[in-house]
Formats: sequence, structure tokens, C-alpha cells
Amino acid sequence: MTLNRHTFHAAALIAALALPLYAHADPCKVEISGNDQMQYDKTELSVPATCKEVTVTLHHTGKLPKEAMGHDWVLVDGADYQAVATAGMNAGLANDYIATADKHVIAHTKIVGGGQSDSVTFPTSSLKKGGSYTYVCTFPGHSVMMHGVFKSG
Ligand code: CU
Repeated sequence: MTLNRHTFHAAALIAALALPLYAHADPCKVEISGNDQMQYDKTELSVPATCKEVTVTLHHTGKLPKEAMGHDWVLVDGADYQAVATAGMNAGLANDYIATADKHVIAHTKIVGGGQSDSVTFPTSSLKKGGSYTYVCTFPGHSVMMHGVFKSG
């Protein structure tokens, strides 16, 4: 009797643990963090070519508010993330430092502050096969430190 109950509890525990692990294992959902030291934790993100859509979640693991140390994640068509960051800077915080008419911006999160997260989902049909993609934080002054390469396929 006692043994059965323990077995049941163990099975329930394993099921509870396995669920988030399985969700995390989806290769089309990737995560990246930014901190109070103006750094992303990854310089490259990659997803398999089989993904129909991709979800990127940005976590701000720091404590500073978005006005002081805000971060976003902006997917850029091409290698010139600097130009996207410059255009975004001029757009201001009210626009999440994104120049919405910028055709090099494929997808982006909003600007988040310490302890906050934001996700963006985009179809891989917006990516060209063999294209070159980068990502950047468009908060003023961050692009020098906060950028990386995005690979699909
Ligand atoms: Cu930033």
C-alpha cells in the first residue's frame, strides 16, 4: 500500500518534471538573456531549417529599469545591425527604439527592464535560404556590445 502510493507520487513527479523539459526541448523556441552589464548571454542563436516558425524569448536577468538598461532583441536582415540600431535610437523609447519602417527589421521584442521578459514569434518564410542574419539590442549605445549571429538551417 505504502509502496504503491510512493510509486504513484514518483510517477506524478516525473510527469510534472518531464513536461517543462519537453517544452524546453523544442528547437524552434530559443531563449536569450540580457544583464545589467550590457551583455547578451549568447553571441549566436540557431534554429533548424525544419521550423515553420521561431519563437525567441528575451529575459532581462538584471535589476535596472528599462529607462537605464533596457534591452530588446531585434532580428536584422543582413550583417549591418549597426544601421538598424542607429535608426532605432532615433525612434526613441516610446517606439521601443525600433524604426518601424526599417525594412531590415524582420522581428523584434519590446524593450524590457530588469526582471522582465518578452517573446516574439515569426514565420521562417520571412527568412531567405542562405541569407545572412544578425540580431542586436537597439537601446542607445548597446549595439557595440549586444549583437550576434542568427542561423536558420
Ligand atoms: Cu541592451
